[in-house]
Amino acid sequence: MKVLILGVNGFIGNALTRRILTTTDWEVFGMDLSANKLEHSLGHERFHYLEGDITINKEWIEYHIKKCDVVLPLVAIATPATYVKEPLRVFELDFEENLRVIRQCVKYGKRVVFPSTSEVYAMCPDPEFKEDESPLVLGPINKPRWIYSCSKQLMDRVIAAYGQQEGLQYTCFRPFNWIGPKLDDMDAAKEGSSRVLTQFIVNLFQGKPIELVDGGAQKRCFTYVEDGIDGLMLIIRNKDGICDSQIFNLGNPKNECSIQDLAEKVSALYRSRKAKIKDFKEPVIAGVNADTYYGKGYQDITTRKPSVAKAKKLLGWEPRTSLDHALERTFDAFLEEWTRA
Ligand code: UGA
Repeated sequence: MKVLILGVNGFIGNALTRRILTTTDWEVFGMDLSANKLEHSLGHERFHYLEGDITINKEWIEYHIKKCDVVLPLVAIATPATYVKEPLRVFELDFEENLRVIRQCVKYGKRVVFPSTSEVYAMCPDPEFKEDESPLVLGPINKPRWIYSCSKQLMDRVIAAYGQQEGLQYTCFRPFNWIGPKLDDMDAAKEGSSRVLTQFIVNLFQGKPIELVDGGAQKRCFTYVEDGIDGLMLIIRNKDGICDSQIFNLGNPKNECSIQDLAEKVSALYRSRKAKIKDFKEPVIAGVNADTYYGKGYQDITTRKPSVAKAKKLLGWEPRTSLDHALERTFDAFLEEWTRA
């Protein structure tokens, strides 16, 4: 199988590439702006990498869509701070640029595996979100935080419509707060615009307080990246076409944790690695309100728990890694990166 991964250097793209190259005989064609997370795969005989930009290298992309069997368009902005500050950039990249790729998959009859998101459920009141039943509940337009959710939701709908009307072969997957090594670039966290776990870890390394937005009672279900990749591999394999025209939540409902508890767990890990940390400072957990942290365009999600019954039934997939283990591995990978830098 020939797999095209756009955004191959991202958190999901790099982990998926490594897994494909080490466990299958497939070929990977990948493009991204840089390759700093791909040192494990660069130079592999079945990995073909182009340093490029989805908005510029359009001919290369079209040529490779024609050449490959399955296309994963993983290019996206996925940090809430950017949704609030630069909503147009989120729409243009996450929706418009990806739409062109989807249309070419339709044109050339290629299978697409699209990264939807847990964020599409937004403020859904269901205790567990179900792919084919739960309502998708967004806030008002004056809260640009929802532009990411809305762009991804519209893309899910457009893809499903291409499936319905023009026979596009597709599967959408919805990661629920995947965490693991290489989650985000530490430079983004230094500027304060990273996802929560990277942000907490980098704040500690910098000797800065961890900031709990609006008290930290909001919960997420953190999912270890390798568990997520297990699910994604089953989707790409698509045994007997079981994943065709389906959407799958890939999350770990057992790892539900409030942001306050997350702050405490990360602080405890930091303390336990004291001997390895240069300029260790006792961790401080502070409070901040959302308007100050993100700006007025932000609105939060209080609980976000996936039902993974469908993934279990159709794929035989279940997440296995506990939250503590996932946090430890993520923390240690960042510590190593920080120490090396
Ligand atoms: C994330 C992002 O939108 C995407 O990465 C992704 O599509 C999706 O959810 C997912 O990974 O499932 P969210 O979970 O809100 O959204 O993003 P985080 O930045 O990781 O924030 C989680 C929570 O921590 C939020 O309630 C936020 O307010 C809080 N937070 C964040 C803090 O309390 N302090 C911080 O320094 C950063």
